[in-house]
Amino acid sequence: MLDYVADKLPGHNQDIHNEARQGEAYAPFANDPNTYSKKFYIESYGCQMNFADSEIVASILNQEGFGATRHYENADLILVNTCSIREKAEQTIRKRLTEFKKIKDKKPGVLVGVLGCMAERLKSKFLEEEKLVDLVVGPDAYRTLPALVDGAEGGQKAVNVLLSREETYADISPVRLDSNGVTAFVSIMRGCNNMCSFCVVPFTRGRERSRDAESIIKECKDLYDKGYREVTLLGQNVDSYYQAPPAPQDGIVRTVTFAKLLEMVAQISPLLRVRFSTSHPKDITDDVLHTMAKYENICNYIHLPVQSGSTRILQLMNRTYTREWYMGKINRIRELIPGCGISSDIITGFCTETGNDHSDTLSMMEYSKFDMSYMFFYSERPGTLAQKRFEDDVPEEIKKKRLLEIVELQNKLSLESNKSDIGKTFKVLIEGNSKRSDKDWMGRNSQNKVIVFPKENYELKKGQYVMVQVHDCTQATLIGKMV
Ligand code: SAH
Ligand code: SF4
Ligand code: F3S
Repeated sequence: MLDYVADKLPGHNQDIHNEARQGEAYAPFANDPNTYSKKFYIESYGCQMNFADSEIVASILNQEGFGATRHYENADLILVNTCSIREKAEQTIRKRLTEFKKIKDKKPGVLVGVLGCMAERLKSKFLEEEKLVDLVVGPDAYRTLPALVDGAEGGQKAVNVLLSREETYADISPVRLDSNGVTAFVSIMRGCNNMCSFCVVPFTRGRERSRDAESIIKECKDLYDKGYREVTLLGQNVDSYYQAPPAPQDGIVRTVTFAKLLEMVAQISPLLRVRFSTSHPKDITDDVLHTMAKYENICNYIHLPVQSGSTRILQLMNRTYTREWYMGKINRIRELIPGCGISSDIITGFCTETGNDHSDTLSMMEYSKFDMSYMFFYSERPGTLAQKRFEDDVPEEIKKKRLLEIVELQNKLSLESNKSDIGKTFKVLIEGNSKRSDKDWMGRNSQNKVIVFPKENYELKKGQYVMVQVHDCTQATLIGKMV
């Protein structure tokens, strides 16, 4: 993961594991600043789902007369949408909250709220033990935010961390924050029913539920009409998306599986690219792969976290697949979608991991030839199955040494993968200026690789597609020229 900060680009799947991005997200100002009597500032951490949630929160607050500000110094309400995935993420956020506390102390009347997964995990501890914040609101309780703000203004304790079995915010049209106007995230489900033993998400996000397909299609169509050209469908485990609508008049029972949903989104327009994240190796189906192969606008890219290459460790992690099963999935993807980009998440130093288990992870990376990976060392999380059942017994130096080894191997694999693209021509969706120079465009190919190329003298705009031939690369970027 680790250079995600440098490669921070809106709409990029990689942000899903961004544990402490100092990414501020901003709701647009109204043309007339007097439209809004109060201002809020929101800062988001963690996965893409959290960033998507901040856009729901912005929409709810806009309705209540709050406009956004990019400067927390000017805000009446400061919100931090938090992540609990690793201890380090929580520490970073805690530091940030301490900074905001100072502002609160200087400017009475300013409210600070903690949203998201840390709010869910720590609940009213934030108010009682530390008095760091005025509001604590869990991921399923954002509709009650306006009432909680009112309460907090009146000096009440404002906490709502109830998890829901139904809430999908389906009817709330997100206010796009800090958007490039080309790529957007669309939540298709919430929560997670898997119980990977290392993971805190099932506790902070609650039970899995799917959003109704009609509202998803409507949101994607609206985005397309507004000029967006790429949507990323988001869920912790998109392959278990499932919707059985109430019995229709014709008596036929129709169900919407993830493959069907993908197809429905792909049919909106051939000019709208579709991506998705995250797929679980145990759940991704041939149906999904066939649908990807059938529609040119469904991108040939799958983020398929392996976590470990050792069957023994995978079992302790409760991932429910073996090393061989995972390899089988990789083969199947390569067979049905030649040239498909594949990326992964990897954890080193999970409980009882030996040198041999670690070697299995390295050989799995070589076998799968991941184009990119997000790599972490294991961080024990309170309340998880692993914390209750196993000892966190791999010493930190060993965890870090192994992490370094997998990072080095991934760097080598990424460079090899990029080098093998030299000479190839790709269809690229222009997302904006390159980071380095406004004389260059930056875009992505179907495989989700970043391509930078000179603008030359063509009249092009972001949101357009161009064919680009690659003539050079770095480990992270392809460099090309329009053809
Ligand atoms: N739902 C997604 C990922 C969610 S969390 C999936 O199933 O793949 C993103 C990544 O963070 C995970 O894939 C895992 O690699 C990492 N992660 C989760 N819990 C962790 C922990 N306790 N320590 C270190 N890394 C962790
Ligand atoms: Fe966590 Fe596993 Fe669910 Fe992913 S699938 S969110 S890793 S429990
Ligand atoms: Fe973090 Fe919660 Fe996402 S723990 S990774 S913000 S679901």
